[in-house]
Amino acid sequence: MAESTPDRALTRLVAWIDQRFPLTKVVEEHATKYYAPKNFNFWYYFGVLASVVLVLQLLTGIWLTMAYVPSGDGAFASVEYIMRDVEYGDIIRYLHSTGASAFFVVVYLHMFRGLAYGSYQRPRELVWLIGIGIFLVLMAEGFFGYLLPWGNMSYWGAQVIVSLVGAIPVIGEDLMIWVRGDYLMSEITLNRFFALHVVALPLALVGLVFVHIVALHKVGSNNPDGVEIKDNKDENGIPVDGIPFHPYYTVHDFQATIVFLFIFCAVVFFAPEMFGYFLEKPNFEQANPLKTPELIAPVWYYTPYYSMLRASTFPLFGLQAKFWGFVVMVAAILMPAMLPWLDRSPVRSMRYKGLASKVMLALLVVSFFILGYLGTIHTTPLTTGMAQVCTMIYFAYFVLMPWYTRVERTKTPPERLT
Ligand code: HEM
Repeated sequence: MAESTPDRALTRLVAWIDQRFPLTKVVEEHATKYYAPKNFNFWYYFGVLASVVLVLQLLTGIWLTMAYVPSGDGAFASVEYIMRDVEYGDIIRYLHSTGASAFFVVVYLHMFRGLAYGSYQRPRELVWLIGIGIFLVLMAEGFFGYLLPWGNMSYWGAQVIVSLVGAIPVIGEDLMIWVRGDYLMSEITLNRFFALHVVALPLALVGLVFVHIVALHKVGSNNPDGVEIKDNKDENGIPVDGIPFHPYYTVHDFQATIVFLFIFCAVVFFAPEMFGYFLEKPNFEQANPLKTPELIAPVWYYTPYYSMLRASTFPLFGLQAKFWGFVVMVAAILMPAMLPWLDRSPVRSMRYKGLASKVMLALLVVSFFILGYLGTIHTTPLTTGMAQVCTMIYFAYFVLMPWYTRVERTKTPPERLT
């Protein structure tokens, strides 16, 4: 059939671009001829959803910045102004604050998928490590952003975390002043957190997500069976268990995005504070260095690590308990980076791993949830004991992995995808 005039014009335009920029090559390599395993399931939605949330945060962040004032006098008032006077300001702010929580929901689920299907194993170690880099930047991004409304919890939350640096022997005190830029949390701290939150870290995040995808497309996606589709190709070199990413997965991911946005908007419209879990009550009052909130707790996505920090209650080797808490917290955040070298299993997916791996993963998830909850309440001797046990379980998952993945009995994975 002869091409219609608009089609011919489009073909000519693409040919014109292709002579100057590898458009068709890039689209083929990363979409129409990028072969993804045909058995992706629910757990494979979260990478795309994380990308959707990233774009949402960038857009709403730019809009917020247009009316936000990064000064000690202006910050809290400008957020009130955004909420009351700026056209659609309340929606934009709630999209951004709910977006922060949604980011962590999808990223935690995305990371869980990696644990369940062994996606960190060879040859995807670098995809995983870049992912850990993204996670660290994301945590920092959330932390810096939380100070910006200059509410009382913003102030005291940042005060508690920055003061941890002060527990480092010898250099701690000076380092703490350097981080704050002042002898106490002040407008100077607010200004630098603002610069990091709106410029430096978003750039780092976008750059890291780009290399994350480039690295993934070099090695190809893993899948729920953990079977390498590149090991089984037809005469044209196409994996027999692969399907082109576009249109098959673009349509699939588009549906997931619509469902996700429905749920997300329901939260934005009906429960943006999420009962104090997304926006905490003390943050509706302006920062006040003379009034400590009754309970200082970070936002829910940090509470598992905050619980591990508080679980350290005794000094050791002449160093304060607070210092060891800081060490435990940093170690807990960095531990997953070691996974590619801790997992000695001959198989990737949890479907074919042994009982020990399944039990350890279940314990990890349960203890992470318990730690998350404990981080939102006051400590008592009982909750501290529970946090200590859960912290041990968390670390046991990683530290014992070389042993239990080697000794357990695994099932033989299929040759082809099921
Ligand atoms: C802004 C945050 C992130 C974005 C936008 C993102 C994006 C993506 C996308 C689009 C994919 C391909 C689709 C999929 O497999 O779901 C992917 C795969 C992957 N990501 Fe992420 N990611 C993010 C954070 C992370 C983090 C924090 C980790 C781990 C620490 C991680 C580890 C992985 C791994 C291992 C894969 C390959 C999974 C497989 O093939 O089974 N990502 N990511």
